[in-house]
Amino acid sequence: MTPPLETGRPDLAVTLAGVPLEHPVLNASGTFDALETARRFGAGALEPFPFAAYVPKTVTLEARAGNPPPRVTETASGMINAVGLQNPGIAAWLDELPLLAGVPVPVVVNIGGSRRADYLEVLRRVEARLEVHDTDLPRVIGYELNVSCPNVGGGGLAIGTQPAETARLTAAARALTRRLIIVKLTPNVTDIVAVARAAADAGADAVSLVNTLRALVLDPQSLTPCLGNRTGGLCGPAIKPVALRMVWEIASALDVPIIGMGGIVSGRDALEFVACGATAVAIGAANFTGPEAPLRIVAELAAEMRRRGLTDLAAVRGRALSRT
Ligand SMILES: Cc1cc2nc3c(=O)[nH]c(=O)nc-3n(C[C@H](O)[C@H](O)[C@H](O)COP(=O)(O)O)c2cc1C
Repeated sequence: MTPPLETGRPDLAVTLAGVPLEHPVLNASGTFDALETARRFGAGALEPFPFAAYVPKTVTLEARAGNPPPRVTETASGMINAVGLQNPGIAAWLDELPLLAGVPVPVVVNIGGSRRADYLEVLRRVEARLEVHDTDLPRVIGYELNVSCPNVGGGGLAIGTQPAETARLTAAARALTRRLIIVKLTPNVTDIVAVARAAADAGADAVSLVNTLRALVLDPQSLTPCLGNRTGGLCGPAIKPVALRMVWEIASALDVPIIGMGGIVSGRDALEFVACGATAVAIGAANFTGPEAPLRIVAELAAEMRRRGLTDLAAVRGRALSRT
């Protein structure tokens, strides 16, 4: 169930790399857990389901315990986290996959890893599971390759900061599936267009950005790092201008569909990402402010469009791009 249509609501429908979505708002991986929400608050808590597609937290080949605590702390206009991709590993993750069948929207599987081979093995295992035409499985429309986690040693940023490595992984993943390949980019680079181009040229259907910015917060008393991992990733409103600039740069240079994220807390924020060229957007830190945030943002987006006389998002997509 998606949010109820109000009378006269502008058309929020978008097509992301060929996949129709009822509206453009997804969740950012690692910031909203549908299964945990249902476990804690009952299935009713997911009705209406606030997102047009669901992206679970990153899954890796082996289980990961994550980083030592503290893992999250607030910052001015944002938050910093170093969860470290805690997850049960792909085998246990696949055991739970049927539980996601209750999610009434398409699912995008977010994959992480330390090495290219690990990403590919996770993707292969998901594909193999989906091959078994099990009616009790969710509708998996694609994969988001998280080559941009700043909080894990090895893999994380090693791939996403290098266009050639990003291209190699993308091409190899492309060869393994007919589902969407979305490459999640890191803002921790000087030339985001080079990495996006590498992904697009290697066969990515879309890019998503931004993941978090490497950052450091000190404990005011001890003047030592707050987080157990010392550094972490900054997100929330503080990073929105950086994220917008990067989406804008990619949309100005390339024709690849973009899922924009970074500091979206309102419908107007979402509309700004669309004006910078994004086809869809994702909500991250705002999910931690309250369970009503995503539905509110979708409603605000509709209200913002109505106020501006926009009947659909195509009318505003790319408006901010340079026309030179
Ligand atoms: C607590 C936390 C956990 C996250 N975990 C993941 C993750 O597992 N995989 C991933 O691709 N991104 C992860 N992210 C990054 C978000 O998906 C998103 O890219 C980032 O937070 C920027 O969006 P925002 O400013 O709206 O939060 C995480 C972010 C936070 C705050």
